[in-house]
Amino acid sequence: MIIGTPLAANSKKVMLLGSGELGKEFVIALQRLGMEVVAVDRYPGAPGYAVAHRAHTINMLDGKALRALINEEMPHIIVPEIEAIATDTLAEIESEGLVEIIPTAKAVQYTLNREGIRRLAAETLELRTSRYAFADNLKQLQVTIDSDVGYPCIVKPVMSSSGKGQSLVEVSGDIEKAWHYAMNAGRVKGGRVIAEEKIDFDFEITLLTIRACNKNGVVVTYFCDPVGHIQTAGDYVESWQPQPMSGKALRHAQQMAKKVTDSLGGRGLFGVELFVKGDDVWFNEVSPRPHDTGMVTMVSQYQSEFALHARAILGFPVDTRLRTPGASAVIYGGFNGAPIAYDGVAEALQDPQVEIRLFGKPEAYVKRRMGVALAFGHDTTNARERANRAANCVKCRKAIFSD
Ligand SMILES: Nc1ncnc2c1ncn2[C@@H]1O[C@H](COP(=O)(O)OP(=O)(O)O)[C@@H](O)[C@H]1O
Ligand SMILES: [Mg+2]
Repeated sequence: MIIGTPLAANSKKVMLLGSGELGKEFVIALQRLGMEVVAVDRYPGAPGYAVAHRAHTINMLDGKALRALINEEMPHIIVPEIEAIATDTLAEIESEGLVEIIPTAKAVQYTLNREGIRRLAAETLELRTSRYAFADNLKQLQVTIDSDVGYPCIVKPVMSSSGKGQSLVEVSGDIEKAWHYAMNAGRVKGGRVIAEEKIDFDFEITLLTIRACNKNGVVVTYFCDPVGHIQTAGDYVESWQPQPMSGKALRHAQQMAKKVTDSLGGRGLFGVELFVKGDDVWFNEVSPRPHDTGMVTMVSQYQSEFALHARAILGFPVDTRLRTPGASAVIYGGFNGAPIAYDGVAEALQDPQVEIRLFGKPEAYVKRRMGVALAFGHDTTNARERANRAANCVKCRKAIFSD
């Protein structure tokens, strides 16, 4: 791509659909390369708005509204940052050939919903996954767990993210509660669930996988070192890089990641989530975009996942090398309200190997991710200690007049 001048007639324009904390860092990466960036989200004051040239607040599930905004802005490239988008509209726009959808409309459609990506991975690509089944009502869920999936298993709404609506089912008596929880907490009320065999893994990783042009302009696959992470109630709380694993498991992981990202196509960075036990690897899911656990790369790599995504999309070379062992730890809201005051930042930054990112969200919830502490160290244990110490220093509270 030939980069132009932002806001001038020859500007090269990217529209970001979803402008959360990952979007914010991605916008910064694009700005550094001289792109014009338009941020879109469903609520005013989304983190990415602060660093974009312009921002629009719309319901991205409304295909008409999305189409109207795209016609008004005429971006060269559209980058979805979330799943909740009118993906049919994106597919239409891609087929008209005027705008590129990152990585592809197909990838966005398959990952919109757990069913699409699970069937693609397990049934079409024959990647190893947990045993699973889908159900549309409580009775069907009971039957399918008893006959196919077994115990313990995890029940999830097919449309949800960050662990919302997920529960562990250990005995038959847990199923009804899991069903109702999934119905109420998913992205769309009601609807379908997936029941998945619970994998007793040693650890789980995100394998950041990049489809980018080599020096001959051919799209090839690059991998970052594996990112290890801990999830509590299905939501990421801590991550680190590199996660040590056997050579055999790493080869399996890379083969699986290549297969699924080849199938989704296009250019860009993908977060391939895998479970690992000894030399065995299971595919969990994939994000066709930077991954929350990959925020650690802002300290641990020469090029962060956001820089890699931007470079890959624009057709530029990428370098996935690790710079140093690193870790990230999430800073939660801890209360419901606004505006927010952040105590303890100076204390957290006493450690010169720590960096803090506060996302600037307009409102806090107890479990809302408000920031992240990043640290590097001589190994991941040391980096994790530093990141956790720093994250624990930072406390969100309701701001008062005298702040
Ligand atoms: N089948 C499973 N076996 C074991 N753990 C699981 C399974 N499914 C999900 N989990 C745990 O829950 C986390 C979130 O589940 P995931 O399917 O990745 O949903 P989300 O889209 O919300 O990230 C996983 O990272 C893992 O820790
Ligand atoms: Mg996940």
